[in-house]
Amino acid sequence: LNGPNLNLLGRREPAVYGTLTLSELEERIREWSRSLGFEAECRHSNSEGQLIDWLHSAGTEGARAVILNAGGYSHTSVALRDAVASIEQPVVEVHLSNVFAREEFRHTSLLSAVCRGTVTGLGPYSYQAALVALQGILAD
Ligand code: DQA
Repeated sequence: LNGPNLNLLGRREPAVYGTLTLSELEERIREWSRSLGFEAECRHSNSEGQLIDWLHSAGTEGARAVILNAGGYSHTSVALRDAVASIEQPVVEVHLSNVFAREEFRHTSLLSAVCRGTVTGLGPYSYQAALVALQGILAD
């Protein structure tokens, strides 16, 4: 699940987020997933409530895990944190940029403590690292 402003990837602050567009990133995620034996369903919303609804329905929709880049909501949203904590599937928090190398307000994520783990700063490979980790976690 990709959250707010990530639909602008490729055009938005390319020095920070790279030049890959969201649809190119999603294509890579689908390819990495296929090679690991998963099928990825990629979704994007700018809206907090939609992300919360998708987290709630992850189980009933058959998702075994969720990879979540909540964008700026990572740093602000108690409601999204509560939604992550409320579901049984492992949720991995990802960020394209290294949030710890940026402004201080990005150093805190309200989501990290309720996620299975966090990958930050590896560009698109943050998602690939999350997929590889989930393959192991789901097989344990
Ligand atoms: C981001 C980092 C957040 O701080 C920022 O608000 C984003 C993108 C990332 O992927 O690096 O929108 O989650």
